[in-house]
Parts: sequence; structure tokens; C-alpha cells
Amino acid sequence: MEALVKVRQITKDDWRDVLRLYESLSEEDLYLRFFHIYKLSPEEAMKLAKEEDHYTVVAEVGGEVVGEATLHEDGEFSVVVASDYRKSHLGTWLVRELIKHAKETGMKEVKFYTLPENRAMISLGQKLGFTLTFDDEEIVGVLKLS
Ligand SMILES: CC(C)(COP(=O)(O)OP(=O)(O)OC[C@H]1O[C@@H](n2cnc3c(N)ncnc32)[C@H](O)[C@@H]1OP(=O)(O)O)[C@@H](O)C(=O)NCCC(=O)NCCS
Repeated sequence: MEALVKVRQITKDDWRDVLRLYESLSEEDLYLRFFHIYKLSPEEAMKLAKEEDHYTVVAEVGGEVVGEATLHEDGEFSVVVASDYRKSHLGTWLVRELIKHAKETGMKEVKFYTLPENRAMISLGQKLGFTLTFDDEEIVGVLKLS
């Protein structure tokens, strides 16, 4: 699989592909991603592809965008992988790219919030060395970079 996948920074022309990726997600995925069911609008996809106050990377297979991860200026990030491509380490790869960028730009930490039932995200965070704090409502994963 890894030989077929390209992980790269988003470009402004990717917005339609990113929108298509989000349209392919189930309600459960959208809930896990946004904490509520939320549909990405074309305007938001364009904003994501523009790179103004955030850093976004995508995973591409055969010209199709199958994963996306975004790091915000405060160190918080989110990640999503199309359901057919999960458990192939794409999520890990995307988050590694964000960590690399965060280190290169001098960020002190990166963090994510997720729901306690999100076993995939918890497992991904544990694997990459995040410290997880459990709360009733959510889990926060923090990775110190300095
Ligand atoms: C969370 C998500 C991005 C993970 O993507 P992925 O590409 O499947 O993740 P990886 O393949 O890199 O898996 C990372 C680790 O988690 C494990 N894992 C993945 N899915 C799992 C699941 N459903 N249950 C338990 N463990 C799981 C993998 O086995 C892997 O561990 P390993 O290397 O020891 O095998 C993906 O499940 C997703 O898009 N979910 C919906 C959106 C979401 O929840 N986003 C997170 C919001 S912050």
C-alpha cells in the first residue's frame, strides 16, 4: 500500500477532492471528526485548500485524495482517512507529517481532541507517543515537541 500512496501538502486545486472525501464519510465518521454531524461546504473545502492560518496535508492514491490532516496555529490537529483505506497506516503517516512540520516551525506541542469511543484515534495517538488525558466527555492527546 505505502508504495502507492503519496502524502503531500494540499494545493488550492485539491478542494474538490477534499470535498469528495468528506462526502464519502458516514455520519459516524463525521461525528468522530467534528463531535457532531457536520457537512463540509464547498467554501470550507476551498478555505482548507488555501493554507492561510493552518497547515494541511493529503494522502493521494492514484490521483484520488483518500486522507486529510490539518494542523492549526495553536497546535491542535485533526485527521481523517476514507473508510476503504483505514488500518493501512495512512492516518499515522499524515499525523507524522504534521508533527514534522510543527517541529520545523518551532511549535512547542501538538494536540488532538477525540471521543472516548474513538479507538482508532486513541490507538494512533498512543503509537505516536501522545500523552492521553481521559475526561468524561472527551480525550485530549498531547505531544510535547521541546
Ligand atoms: C482515526 C483515523 C484517522 C485513523 O486512520 P487509519 O489510517 O485507519 O489509522 P492507522 O492505520 O494509521 O492506525 C493507527 C493505529 O490504530 C489502530 N487502529 C486503526 N483503526 C482501529 C480501530 N478501529 N480499532 C482499534 N485500533 C485501530 C491500527 O491498527 C494502528 O495500530 P498498529 O500500527 O499497531 O496496527 C480513521 O479511523 C478515521 O478517519 N476515522 C474517522 C475520523 C476521525 O475519527 N478522526 C479523528 C479526529 S481527531
